[in-house]
Amino acid sequence: MTLAMRLLYKVSVRDVLGQLRVGAVSEFLISYLLLGSVGVIVAEFYEKVGTLAVAAFILPLIFARMMFFRNMELEEAHKELQGKNVELKDRARVLRALSNRIADERKEERDQIAAYLHDDTAQMLYRLSLQIEMAKRRLSKGEIETVLRNLEEIDTTRKGTDQTIRALIRDLHRSPIGRRGLAEAITSYAEDASRGIDLTITVDVGEVSLPSAIQLLVYQITREAVMNAIKHAEAENIWVSLAERDDVVELMIKDDGKGFDTSAAPPEGHFGSIMMRERALVTGGTFALESEPGQGTTIRAAFPHVWVEEELLESSPGAPTSAAPTVEPPEPPPWGNGHGTSKDGEPVRTDDLGPIATPAKEPSEGGRPTRSGTRKPPPGDQTRQIPAW
Ligand SMILES: Nc1ncnc2c1ncn2[C@@H]1O[C@H](COP(=O)(O)OP(=O)(O)OP(=O)(O)O)[C@@H](O)[C@H]1O
Ligand SMILES: [Mg+2]
Repeated sequence: MTLAMRLLYKVSVRDVLGQLRVGAVSEFLISYLLLGSVGVIVAEFYEKVGTLAVAAFILPLIFARMMFFRNMELEEAHKELQGKNVELKDRARVLRALSNRIADERKEERDQIAAYLHDDTAQMLYRLSLQIEMAKRRLSKGEIETVLRNLEEIDTTRKGTDQTIRALIRDLHRSPIGRRGLAEAITSYAEDASRGIDLTITVDVGEVSLPSAIQLLVYQITREAVMNAIKHAEAENIWVSLAERDDVVELMIKDDGKGFDTSAAPPEGHFGSIMMRERALVTGGTFALESEPGQGTTIRAAFPHVWVEEELLESSPGAPTSAAPTVEPPEPPPWGNGHGTSKDGEPVRTDDLGPIATPAKEPSEGGRPTRSGTRKPPPGDQTRQIPAW
């Protein structure tokens, strides 16, 4: 029978046997006796009625066969659903963690705005109130000349406050993508990151034609990978390369450190690597992390150019493809100088959602919180999974 099933329906012998439920011995005996009785009855009928009795026997068999296959299909669908369910649960877990991280980052951003308002704006307003108080007192004493001078000072302070607030508003509105270019942002970040520690970061990056939102993701992936190599790898060298190849932009971050077992689950509450992967995949690109204990770690990501075309279509037809979208100055490494100063001395910081600048003493461009956006992946990107790495 199994051979027949295999030939007719391409069902493996194993599956057929798997579907046959013999059950308990008592059940088997009962079924055996019942079927035997049915056989006897059918034989009796055949004697008396003829071929019609055979039809009466065969019809239920056909129904039974249909039910058997239906059952198999249902079981397969059930297994598939269970697999999807596990995948969905994993994804939900990652998303929850990501949203927690985003919430933390938002809080950090609010703290920075609050610090800025406290350090600069509130102090200027306090100064204004002191100056007004003094002017009032002098006015009551009739010191008109001094009051006039005070009024000028008040006006200067007011202008300063106005400028400071405008700078804050401008920076809040500013695009997360700065003016300096991705290549320079990565180079500058690498310089900051390796400063004061015994490690060489070799950077080989060129400007690439990717939309600014994707460039920001590239920058964030690079930053996390470099940070991981510094934090965990005990590496002597880190290499970062970014180049255009055919229809993709390829990013590679490699270290000669101690490597790690990629089959192990990431530590609880640590999502840097998962976020790197998510960021690469959200662009419709690819991401691969290779590592083995004692063999260093290599991360490769590729970002498709299709985004460039889309952006060009969305914006102005005929705009240059290599519009030089640029990225904010990089975040100072936590292990670095600790003061958050970038190459040109401007205090800066970037977070995982987009660059965030720390409050500057003087209002300046590039010194305010900014946000990045991500795009939906291009259609056809069905390959996303939640791997451990
Ligand atoms: N380049 C590397 N060399 C050696 N081990 C690494 C490297 N990158 C990652 N790891 C290992 O993988 C783990 C997970 O990395 P992941 O970036 O996800 O989290 P994390 O760096 O520990 O925390 P965070 O959430 O702040 O990024 C690390 O704790 C470390 O053990
Ligand atoms: Mg990390």
